[in-house]
Amino acid sequence: MSKSLEIQNLKINTFGINGQTILDVPYFNLEGERELVISGASGSGKTTFLYAIAGLFLKLNGKVSWNRSNLYNLASVERDKWRSQNLGMIFQNFQLLDELSVLDNILVPTGFDSFFCPKDMIYKAEKLADEFSISIHNSTIAHMSRGEKQRIALARALIKDAPIILADEPTASLDEANARNILEHLRKISEEGDKTLIIVSHDPAVMEQIDNKLLLEHGKIIKNTLPTISNVGAA
Ligand SMILES: Nc1ncnc2c1ncn2[C@@H]1O[C@H](COP(=O)(O)OP(=O)(O)OP(=O)(O)O)[C@@H](O)[C@H]1O
Ligand SMILES: [Mg+2]
Repeated sequence: MSKSLEIQNLKINTFGINGQTILDVPYFNLEGERELVISGASGSGKTTFLYAIAGLFLKLNGKVSWNRSNLYNLASVERDKWRSQNLGMIFQNFQLLDELSVLDNILVPTGFDSFFCPKDMIYKAEKLADEFSISIHNSTIAHMSRGEKQRIALARALIKDAPIILADEPTASLDEANARNILEHLRKISEEGDKTLIIVSHDPAVMEQIDNKLLLEHGKIIKNTLPTISNVGAA
């Protein structure tokens, strides 16, 4: 079953005496919905929002609850464990390891390298690479294009079949055909596996296909199409 997400009184400030509020979400609820697209101008807080719901801040004001349990009540070791079991994440800057091969990068979330990895996992990595037209025979990824790296980051996010997929601009560096393929793939696995899929995107094709939309401006939700009753922060 897809996971429910609820945010209450979330406020994220930058550090220091002149700390500014970069995200301010009084309430948000993704109960019973599987897909969401988040958009907004550069600097509006989209990546910060994704990091908050991924449990990537050490601590924050407010609550981020998946299946009614506040992620930020967990000790950081427990939160890391939760993330490893529940999240497949595509970072805006990919966060790949330049010194590793394509295959080893895809396998990172499994905790194995290609030498020790169980055969079925290697097979899955090869299958994902094939689906996204990635060649795994390149020795390292340092000199690959952004589009190639983006597809490797995507394969890495899907290797563990996690129930929640968070994707920060997953089609930003891709040509139209690759972007279409990746969006279709993400939506298909989300539907078939009943996974929660949250995409940050400006891509009109993504905006068009995903019904639930959240628009951020200066760290606040200014539009929310979700049919929930408690959308206090919605315009
Ligand atoms: N660690 C930080 N310290 C200070 N300011 C930060 C920090 N992280 C983000 N910000 C600021 O918070 C705001 C929101 O940043 P964020 O990266 O979430 O925006 P975004 O909507 O993802 O932008 P983009 O579309 O360019 O990726 C920006 O003004 C950014 O400069
Ligand atoms: Mg961003």
